[in-house]
Amino acid sequence: MHNTRLVCDDIYWIGASDRIVARFENMFPLSDGIAYNSYLILDEKTAVIDTVDNAVGEVFLENIEYLLQGRTLDYLIVNHMEPDHCANIRNVVLRYPDVKIVGNAKTFKFLEQFYDGISSDSYLLIKDKDVLNLGSRQLSFHLAPMVHWPEVMVTYEEKNNVLFSSDAFGNFGALNGNIFSDEVEFNVNEFRRYYSNVIARFGSNVQALLKKIHALNPKIIAPLHGVVHVGSAVSSVLNLYHLWSSYQSECSGVVIAYASMYGNTAEACQKLATYLAMRGVKDIQIFDVSHTHPSYIIEKVFKYSHLVVATPNYNTRLYFPMESFLSELAFLNIQNRKMCFITNMTWGGTALAQAKEIFAKNKNIEYIAEDFNIQSSMKENQISELTCFADAILESLKEK
Ligand code: FEO
Repeated sequence: MHNTRLVCDDIYWIGASDRIVARFENMFPLSDGIAYNSYLILDEKTAVIDTVDNAVGEVFLENIEYLLQGRTLDYLIVNHMEPDHCANIRNVVLRYPDVKIVGNAKTFKFLEQFYDGISSDSYLLIKDKDVLNLGSRQLSFHLAPMVHWPEVMVTYEEKNNVLFSSDAFGNFGALNGNIFSDEVEFNVNEFRRYYSNVIARFGSNVQALLKKIHALNPKIIAPLHGVVHVGSAVSSVLNLYHLWSSYQSECSGVVIAYASMYGNTAEACQKLATYLAMRGVKDIQIFDVSHTHPSYIIEKVFKYSHLVVATPNYNTRLYFPMESFLSELAFLNIQNRKMCFITNMTWGGTALAQAKEIFAKNKNIEYIAEDFNIQSSMKENQISELTCFADAILESLKEK
């Protein structure tokens, strides 16, 4: 059964939500599903902007049929060739054999890598800033490589100032009937988790896209996941993207990420958190890397200014879940953070050196306290050392 909503002026949302899928990209946990957005424009010519994941393909195709009311589909614009958005291209072509598929050179390269049986006669190859006339309105295309894949582009509808932003400005979470940012309580934590884990690696590319977007000055941002941003939300999400893509923290606060096999390293971290709280620090977030999926910890590291890493050795080297978390965080290009380390050496090893080496190429990572080392378990005579460790973090927070 069709299920659509009007965005504005004959521009329709024709997406759908999936609440069954457990993990986005088979990697990131989804507690509340995911929305796959697609849009249809009715003008003298008709256009669909991106398709949807296979999981919701049926309703998407019914939505197109319902809105076209027997008309043909003239254009399928492919902003992004990742299968959560392009999985239904073949189905669209089968139903509307005269449709022109609009994409750049890389779009068609990936299209042919993923799918067989789509004739290149249907391709409409565009370059950066090319314009497509639909009748009463024009669409312009703007390449946005590596936000999130190399072929990504965004599409701008100039009559109503609508930016179809591809993955950028997307969010985790299914939609619940309300699809606009001013209709819902916006989940900024999930918005940050989506950005920091999916988009963050190539911040300079995001900055380049932001420059293009500011020149376009959109009033509506319509991403491929999550709500459509309208009103004051447009400037809010642009500001957040500027902050995150330049790897600045949003606010002062301490993330304590620990690995602990028998609870001793965890105990030292709890004690540190208490000392910080006693000194008036409000924003303290403790995570056990063996328990919490790294995407949630990474989200908080992108939010806050300070990170404490606490880890035991394991078979003389870095404990594997900690290595995995730190490597991913470093790969996502985290910068401009204050860090310090707690290690637990029972019989020696290289965990600390390994942990620091992981961040060797990340810019402006500053170590703000002497490493605090425990051997197997923290002892009473180490309390003054731990209070000094807490004091050093406090001093650094004040500077921030
Ligand atoms: Fe939502 Fe990069 O795909």
